Amino acid sequence: MSPSKKRYLVTSALPYANGALHLGHLAGAYLPADIYVRYLRMKGEEVLFVCGSDEHGAAITMRAKKEGVSPKEIIDKYHELNKTTFECLGISFDIYHRTSDPLHHETAQQFFLRLYERGDQFEERTTEQYYDEEYQQFLADRYIVGTCPKCGYEEAYGDQCEKCGSALSPLELINPRSVLSGKPPVLRQTTHWYFRLDKHEGWLREWISQGTLDGRPHHDPAKWRKHVVGQCTSWLDQGLQPRAITRDLDWGVPVPLEGAAGKVLYVWFDAPIGYISATRRWAKDQGQDWEAWWKGEEVQLVHFIGKDNIVFHCIVFPAMLKAHGEFALPVNVPANQFLNFEGQKFSKSRGWGLEQHEYLEAFKDFPNREDALRWALARNLPENRDSDFKWDEFVEFHDKELADNLGNFINRVVVLTNKYFGGKVPALSGPWTEILAPVRQLARQWSASIEDFNLKQAALLFMEVSSWGNQYLQEQAPWALYKEDKQHPRLAEIMGVALQVAALLSMMAEPYVPFSAARLRKLLGMGSLRKGEWAEAMEALDAGMPILPEGHQIGEPQILFAKIADRKDDSRLKIVEQQKAKLKALQEKAEDTVALPYPPVAPQIAYDDFAKLDIRTGTILAAERVPKTDKLLKLTVDIGIEKRTVVSGIAHQYEPEAVIGQRVLLLANLAPRKLRDILSQGMILMAEDKEGKLVFVQPADPTMDNGAKVS
Ligand code: MF3
Ligand code: ZN
Repeated sequence: MSPSKKRYLVTSALPYANGALHLGHLAGAYLPADIYVRYLRMKGEEVLFVCGSDEHGAAITMRAKKEGVSPKEIIDKYHELNKTTFECLGISFDIYHRTSDPLHHETAQQFFLRLYERGDQFEERTTEQYYDEEYQQFLADRYIVGTCPKCGYEEAYGDQCEKCGSALSPLELINPRSVLSGKPPVLRQTTHWYFRLDKHEGWLREWISQGTLDGRPHHDPAKWRKHVVGQCTSWLDQGLQPRAITRDLDWGVPVPLEGAAGKVLYVWFDAPIGYISATRRWAKDQGQDWEAWWKGEEVQLVHFIGKDNIVFHCIVFPAMLKAHGEFALPVNVPANQFLNFEGQKFSKSRGWGLEQHEYLEAFKDFPNREDALRWALARNLPENRDSDFKWDEFVEFHDKELADNLGNFINRVVVLTNKYFGGKVPALSGPWTEILAPVRQLARQWSASIEDFNLKQAALLFMEVSSWGNQYLQEQAPWALYKEDKQHPRLAEIMGVALQVAALLSMMAEPYVPFSAARLRKLLGMGSLRKGEWAEAMEALDAGMPILPEGHQIGEPQILFAKIADRKDDSRLKIVEQQKAKLKALQEKAEDTVALPYPPVAPQIAYDDFAKLDIRTGTILAAERVPKTDKLLKLTVDIGIEKRTVVSGIAHQYEPEAVIGQRVLLLANLAPRKLRDILSQGMILMAEDKEGKLVFVQPADPTMDNGAKVS
């Protein structure tokens, strides 16, 4: 159990400084990292825990535009908010840096130049990209919206459709328009640098699947989460392509090359380098050598992230590090899946979810608010699948586990030790080490689980130790012996064992509920936790020595956990009820929206506008699914004078066989457009009801010819 010679560099994804973080973020990349880091410190390992704000990219400039302020105002505001909120929640970063720091710009530029100078890592490409003529600027992917070619959603972004989740490129969007001017953008030529990710495919595949690097073992691939390896493998199987790592933008790290004015590094190129610059800043402030944390055999780099960041941390950034040379690659990337909130995805626009600072504000009078949240999230971490935050569980985990189980045990130990021994640890006697064997076993499992990133399981083991303590006291019933004989010889043994368990628990509490852990330790007279204390405690027990020695003075009894559902004080439960009521109202509103009456009639148009529409009667002759979509059917429609191919987004409601022979009305003079490489020549008219059910509009008389004009 003694510390290794390793150096752990632990990172949490740098959040964009364009908004507050919600509980899903906390459970995804910050709380788990903090649990891990706090554990490593108490084990005595050398650890550096870095994070900071990601302050570049379109996410920031978009937000600034929305609020009508400068990007700087946005990043300053949210950097501060996120930094202080993390501090408040006990996320114990050694540094919370920011990518607007000049040291970061310098680090990212040096990194870029090193790759550039190698000659074979970059390639320059001139391509056509969307440009907004009115705003005179190239449009980042997020600045272009249009219709998703895969599902027909009309507000898809240039990089992704939020409706169907497909990754897109701006050129794939149908009817693209600029977010800035609202007008269709034009294509213009521009030159960018591409990182030759394709050249790294071979070793990446070995590294991910075998855990070997340059023919030597690097990490144990069996310890990586299945969903992480799965995502990487599927990326590799699709083949890696060169990736553009520069952008035409006026916000970011300038490209450090001649003739690159107006170009900046792509945010996903500079942001992970932020881990390096954070280390450099910290080392500078501490008078330490930053390279010791990034270079050399002892370096254990671990990235905590959410699953949406896997490819960047497991493929792109490692390739960048390898291309640069000298840097260590991550030994694990324990990415989490997503946390939902009372059964639904967090959604800022719908108001569904809770931000960290909102939580703190709502529970400001609850003394254990930080740990109550940490515990509820830790008990339910989305480690291998999505999980769900529920208010009822929040109450239950706190009250039943922290208060009833842990709080109760510690309280009994403190009360009884004060009563029987004046608050002094008695001389341990009897077979106390054997009695403690199961606890030591649980504690070892707890350590191993954390080291394997099974943090939820370790949380349960922590509770098991506490349950063991309660059960032990219950079975031994020292109060009965005391009643019999105040000097009963077994009292020292029983309380001695219970005190050691309490001491262990005060340490096991540290990674999960550090605020409570500190109170616990104070109560047990243990002072503040020292680095390496856990390893020492385990070694002591293994050597048959107690953690709390004979004569050690503990404190006076004191209530450790005020329950949330407290019969005498309902203030906290009231807040929970309010939160639940808020969600219920949102839910009802959402249900109302679905059943909303049909939209009011659109603004008037002139007859001429209508006369422009050429609508014809027709019949569907053939229908097939468009491969790899679940919404689109490719239809052949006879409109008398000719046959048309039409792509229609009805496959989720109509099987292809079911629409063959269907009479339809077709808007025949709609400009043709390409959907999934198929030229769609016209649009079939459909009526949509309140539930989104689509029905065909057809001539009421089945004998009506195809090709008849509707007017
Ligand atoms: N800002 C990104 C996000 O929130 C994460 C960046 S992680 C880093 O998705 F590695 F690039 F820093
Ligand atoms: Zn889509």
